[in-house]
Amino acid sequence: MSLCFTHIYITMINFDKNFIYLHTKNTSLVFEIKKYLYEDEKYIKEDRYFITQRYYGPSLKEELSPKEPLLRPNGSSNDYCNDYLISSSFGNGNNSEVSLLVFNENNSAVTRLFYKGFDIIKGGKDVKVPHARNASETLHIVEKDDVSGIEVHLYYSLFEDSDVIVCKKEIVNTKQNVCFFRKASSLECPINCKNVLITTFDGAWTKERTRHTLNLSSGVFVNQSFLGSSSHKHNPYIEVVDNENKLHYAFNLVYSGNHKETVEVNPTEHSSVLVGINDFGFEYALNKGESFMTPEAVMVVAKSTDEITFKMHNFINNHIINPSYRYKDRPILFNSWEGSTFKIEEKSLLEMADVAKQVGIELFVVDDGWFSNRPNDQSGLGDWTADNNKFPSGIKKFAEKIREKGLKFGLWFEPESISINSDLFRKHPEFAQLVPGYNPFARRHQIVIDMANKKVIDYLFEMISKVIEEAELDYIKWDYNRLITDAYSNTGIRCGEYMHRFIMGTYELLDRLTTKYPNLLIESCSSGGGRYDLGILYYTPQIWGSDNSNSFYRSFIACGTLSAYPQSTFGAHVSRDYSVTGHRSSLEDRFNINCLGAFGYEMDLRQDGKEDLEIIKKQIDFYKKHRHLIQFGHYYYVDNCFDDDRYYSFVVVSENKKEAILSVVELSPGVPNKTWKFKGLNPTAIYEIEMRPQANADIKLLPKLSGSELMDTGLDLGSLYDEKDNNVFQKGIYSRMIFVKEV
Ligand code: GLA
Repeated sequence: MSLCFTHIYITMINFDKNFIYLHTKNTSLVFEIKKYLYEDEKYIKEDRYFITQRYYGPSLKEELSPKEPLLRPNGSSNDYCNDYLISSSFGNGNNSEVSLLVFNENNSAVTRLFYKGFDIIKGGKDVKVPHARNASETLHIVEKDDVSGIEVHLYYSLFEDSDVIVCKKEIVNTKQNVCFFRKASSLECPINCKNVLITTFDGAWTKERTRHTLNLSSGVFVNQSFLGSSSHKHNPYIEVVDNENKLHYAFNLVYSGNHKETVEVNPTEHSSVLVGINDFGFEYALNKGESFMTPEAVMVVAKSTDEITFKMHNFINNHIINPSYRYKDRPILFNSWEGSTFKIEEKSLLEMADVAKQVGIELFVVDDGWFSNRPNDQSGLGDWTADNNKFPSGIKKFAEKIREKGLKFGLWFEPESISINSDLFRKHPEFAQLVPGYNPFARRHQIVIDMANKKVIDYLFEMISKVIEEAELDYIKWDYNRLITDAYSNTGIRCGEYMHRFIMGTYELLDRLTTKYPNLLIESCSSGGGRYDLGILYYTPQIWGSDNSNSFYRSFIACGTLSAYPQSTFGAHVSRDYSVTGHRSSLEDRFNINCLGAFGYEMDLRQDGKEDLEIIKKQIDFYKKHRHLIQFGHYYYVDNCFDDDRYYSFVVVSENKKEAILSVVELSPGVPNKTWKFKGLNPTAIYEIEMRPQANADIKLLPKLSGSELMDTGLDLGSLYDEKDNNVFQKGIYSRMIFVKEV
């Protein structure tokens, strides 16, 4: 551990005098260690120091150890200013929202942390919970309050290739018999700017991750969830644009429980961003010698939104996703839900499997309704054994029949919920979240199981493992259709710790299952996309994006989601046309929009005429041919439908820029024609151009153009409106997909 002040240079972290420099490929973060000047001389026994953030922005690598790092775009040089702290606490003079609040046993809430030193860790600081994998290097800073004995360890890990820095904090009680901390943000990032543009991704069931922007020039903005999961309502991902320096910052949290992102703008000073577990109802007891590690917060800085998106995608694919699925093509699946709902029956499923195989589907998934006591959504959750009436020859035999057809096999589970009308509840009512004296809040006729109880985790692990082995499952859809209302464990867990311990239980179960079955693909889901976050992605490489597959709404949901999360994570299925919403789209248009992600079909394929099945077969052939490009290509927005709700278009480009797909969508008929432009191509290369053949459109395109022509001039595709569609009074959606390949 060093108190700094001499110069050394170690790959990405170096220090000189009282500055510590962290470098990723294109960004730098600089801390300054300053003398503490807030004590009256009569009390001073020794010099004391505190640490502040001096700079976070574009790379300073050129100047290996600049004498005077830039004040802007982010940081302070004011010797007397405590406001650029990286772990502010109540009692240290910081007059913005603090990141740490501890109630001490002497009845004070004061924590005054002083800098003690730092060291550099090769790789990351190991933790068992979800975290970014394979850090290049980690800066470990220690701060301590000698009076209360509270020690804070800050770990800044560098992800050089993705330009991302991840921060977590460990709080240690070294002295008190017991203390209670009520707030512990993972990251505190000051921004030297008094005017910011905040972008969040909010929504509800069937309207997930709708982009919202807000200018803040004074006050406090909070983006949060508090009912146990990251939520449909406010995704933990936020972007903050420094309007003065034109820099884009983005933040996320590797956590699936209650999160809170706070942006505070002090109009006479600066702004700051706090990211971490929500302090709503949070109070964690630390006995002497115990410590608490916060989840990891992710931060990135860039000059544009496109760059931010690229870096986030890269980071998630490389450092969050389970290595067994890293850049591994995801199977095309069939899911029974929208076609069959609870009408699960072996004979008809096998017929559907025949059609699925015939059109080229690779994985057959039986959704809700396959297990005991589950004729509808009013019973059965927790009874994870197959219903013999629905599978007369047993689930093992059924799975074998599916595999004999050449398909992989998967099943739906909702481990974190329990039905009151279930054998499990009758046998173990103590497994459910039941607050003594209250009737449980039963939403969708179900209550939440107590994931903080070890016995529950053991039970679920055993039951789910049994089915995985019996049916040799390749895939699980892991649903969670609840919010926590009756937070309680009869094992005596303190209420201020419950929400966190609940999600730790979920992680433990996922960890045990993914360790035991490393090749099992888990797709998570939470009433559609209600738990879309980096914590769950650590275990489940893909997430069902939304229960809304209608092309109109899906365009917005995809557009919002892909700002922060890569295509490979986004479960996207073609289902029947929901003309009930008034937004009609043909099977071809539904494919163009919904194929962007971990793709599948979700409808009773037996009902389709021969013509439709032919179309589906061709769509699947196209998808298979370009699957890697679609799932892992570099994604660019061309027309962001949150900027202009008439159009949505995007490009995916291969890493070597030799191939790309442009997908263009008109979100209502009769909108003015426009030229559609590519992005990300090699300007000097010549590309062959081909439209994905669509049953409802046939356009002649110029056979070849250069990259710069495709990007600067673009393609005129005329009207996308389908001439055969005579129902012009309804709101239709029309689209095309253009594939280009370097000659
Ligand atoms: C949730 C999911 C759906 C489906 C149903 C089954 O709503 O989002 O995809 O699995 O549950 O009950």
